[in-house]
Amino acid sequence: MPAHLRSLVEKFRSRSAKVGVLGLGYVGLPLALRFAEAGLPTLGFDIDPEKVLTLQRGETYIKTIAPERIAAARGKGMDATTDTARAAEMDALVICVPTPLTEARAPDLSFVIATIEALLPQLHAGQLVSLESTTYPGTTAEELAPRIAARGLTLGEDLFLVYSPEREDPGNTRFDTRTIPKLVSGTTPACLEAGVALYEQAVDRVVPVSSTRAAEMAKLLENIHRAVNIGLVNEMKIVADRMGIDIHEVVRAAATKPFGFTPYYPGPGLGGHCIPIDPFYLAWKARKYGVEARFVELAGEVNRAMPEWVVGKIEHALAERDTEIKGSRILVLGLAYKKNVDDVRETPAAEILELLQSRGAKVDYSDPHVPRFPRMRAHHFELESVPLDAKTLGRYDCVVLVTDHDAFDYALISNHAQILVDTRGRYDDPAPNIVRA
Ligand SMILES: NC(=O)c1ccc[n+]([C@@H]2O[C@H](COP(=O)([O-])OP(=O)(O)OC[C@H]3O[C@@H](n4cnc5c(N)ncnc54)[C@H](O)[C@@H]3O)[C@@H](O)[C@H]2O)c1
Repeated sequence: MPAHLRSLVEKFRSRSAKVGVLGLGYVGLPLALRFAEAGLPTLGFDIDPEKVLTLQRGETYIKTIAPERIAAARGKGMDATTDTARAAEMDALVICVPTPLTEARAPDLSFVIATIEALLPQLHAGQLVSLESTTYPGTTAEELAPRIAARGLTLGEDLFLVYSPEREDPGNTRFDTRTIPKLVSGTTPACLEAGVALYEQAVDRVVPVSSTRAAEMAKLLENIHRAVNIGLVNEMKIVADRMGIDIHEVVRAAATKPFGFTPYYPGPGLGGHCIPIDPFYLAWKARKYGVEARFVELAGEVNRAMPEWVVGKIEHALAERDTEIKGSRILVLGLAYKKNVDDVRETPAAEILELLQSRGAKVDYSDPHVPRFPRMRAHHFELESVPLDAKTLGRYDCVVLVTDHDAFDYALISNHAQILVDTRGRYDDPAPNIVRA
């Protein structure tokens, strides 16, 4: 066993290795907390000084992570910094930075590249670097490995390069960072061995994968699987709607089959940092190999059309009551992209609000988790969450349920909304004011 590998594995197993987590967002923060809770000295790095200061005060900026957890991790020695130079002190460096799309739906690796470029001067023999960001097959081998090798460090001997995709699901109460099995792959067999030794300290089950490309693609397959099945059920929703059938009843009925069927639920469109974005990382790379990822493109097309379809249903429901969308007052319930979280990235609610406004509607929203419409790249509204009560609900020509947070009072909503457009199948029983969309 190479000397550097032996000493690194020993440090991981004795939990004395210093772990640096770069990018303290929805993925990096829970991961850093997990390493700290497992007893490894952990330092979080972020370019956002606000996040670093918040953590240093023992406070939180992610609703699903309690401040007590941060304070407890700080008690175990976890700290945060904006100073990349401190990467030199670390034994393991784990990269959890964003991987968005460009306007043309091509991969935007600028955060990953900026991070590795910032790390390069700090790298030295005896360290492990792990990329966790979701990305196309080949990123670790084509973008990270050559840059590290050009620093004169031999991968698998001096420095150990790993790809281990994150599977964080914020708000999930059944699984957490420790109990979600973790795929780990390495640039060489020694890199894999080092990676497994690191992650075994923090997660219950580590699953080795033979190459970084396979692990990168496995993560994309997981998300494409969701995107395609959601696209399928959204298409089925449109067909069922034309036929006067309730798609939610159909899915519930089909889901009683104990094998060979997994239920996916239709909705107002995709949201979050993963499902609307990641599939296009594969489609883009596949094109470089002369292959069209047709399911990916088709699912994207169907899912992207959902906000427009929902707005069409709103327009139709208003017209049935001799009301035009122009000048009508419409309240959108739920701004976050999924229930019980405060994350609004890529949320279809913003697009629905925009489509409604562009047709002349006066829009508002209500979301107990998002008190004020946040700054977003593609959308801008000067709005604050409207508190829900009977009088307020009754003032709107139409109320649209976009995100079915548990905190909403569903009886209050259906009792007082003039028209209630339900995009989540929350209301099973037909009522004259309820429209499924
Ligand atoms: N959010 C999820 O549920 C989820 C789940 C699985 C995988 N992922 C993947 O994980 C990656 C990170 O996603 P996220 O949701 O945590 O993003 P995020 O935007 O919540 O957090 C990223 C953090 O990285 C920081 N950052 C950017 N550049 C940096 C740099 N050079 N050095 C240090 N910090 C830097 C940002 O300030 C931010 O705090 C993405 O590739 C994403 O696709 C996300």
